[in-house]
Amino acid sequence: MILGHEKVPFLHLPTPLDYLPALSKDLGINLYVKRDDMTGLGTGGNKLRKLEYLLHEAQEKGATALVTVGGPQTNHGRLTAAVAAKFGLKCTIVAVGAYPGELSANLLLDRILGCEVYLVQKDGDASDAKLEERAVRETMDKYRAQGDVPFFIPLGGSSPVGILGYYECAQELTMQADEQNIRQPRVIAAVGSEGMYMGLFIGVKDIGSPLHITGIAITNSHMPDAQARAKSYFDECRAYLQFPWTVGKDAFDVRNDYHWNGYNNPVKQVREALYYMARKEAIILDPCYTGKAFYGLLDMVKKGDIRQGDSVIFVHSGGTAAINGPIHRIPMEQELMDGVIIKKPEA
Ligand SMILES: Cc1ncc(COP(=O)(O)O)c(C=O)c1O
Repeated sequence: MILGHEKVPFLHLPTPLDYLPALSKDLGINLYVKRDDMTGLGTGGNKLRKLEYLLHEAQEKGATALVTVGGPQTNHGRLTAAVAAKFGLKCTIVAVGAYPGELSANLLLDRILGCEVYLVQKDGDASDAKLEERAVRETMDKYRAQGDVPFFIPLGGSSPVGILGYYECAQELTMQADEQNIRQPRVIAAVGSEGMYMGLFIGVKDIGSPLHITGIAITNSHMPDAQARAKSYFDECRAYLQFPWTVGKDAFDVRNDYHWNGYNNPVKQVREALYYMARKEAIILDPCYTGKAFYGLLDMVKKGDIRQGDSVIFVHSGGTAAINGPIHRIPMEQELMDGVIIKKPEA
């Protein structure tokens, strides 16, 4: 039970906190990785921690179907589909965006998991938000008309209840850092819908943990003032969860320097960061979230924002399926084909 809310426990917790010797040596820091990509269901990822709490809420309301939103390649959607499959619920993901031309990456996994994907195409002047709202309403109505009880999960599962999964992760990580004698650790995590960051932030402050959380915005939607945005989200969570303390906007450390002005956009430097992690530590990042966050970490080391000898915990939040979507796979093929040697048959 966290802040009065229960969960349905279905994860492999605690996830490992591993030291990365080769990268630590290269970078001159003590680098650790929190393996939240290894959470179990549906190839894993950070959303499952939120979904433990959200599933409890859904079950309390008698839900027979889960409905959520995201981009066509949403990791959160894929993990909602996984939870729905495991717990015998129907599931629909509503996404405004074009079909990528093939059934691959998360879209393929959604369908393997038996989830319906409602891909809404742009329509005249209507905003994406309006199109999404309309499609969600239609989906909820369709479920109700057939006698189901649909439960709506917002973008990224980042409702005040969803973020409690990362409050719990803050407790887990604090204990692991203490056991491993990691001094003054700084945690680096990707920020999308911001639930992971906010859950970690609130958890750390609420239990008096020495961890410092740095968020790396992977989308330009935190522009222009990431701190003001975080503060307003914090206030919303506080009003719902009713903990007694508060902070000013300066307390939030969310960087807007590493999103390349987009979301899920292919970026050469990010792919290079991903290859670097893979070739040093055999850990596969993703090009949308953790690749951008890891590039940010490397840049912060280069600029002295992370100093030599510092202890850093990088959160691997999952998302690796994205490397198989054409937007990322095609540039990777161009960069990596030189190492595939195709031997012709002997004449
Ligand atoms: C792999 C991965 N990492 C990080 C995030 C960011 O989490 P949040 O949306 O809670 O900020 C997401 C969100 O979809 C994700 O899929």
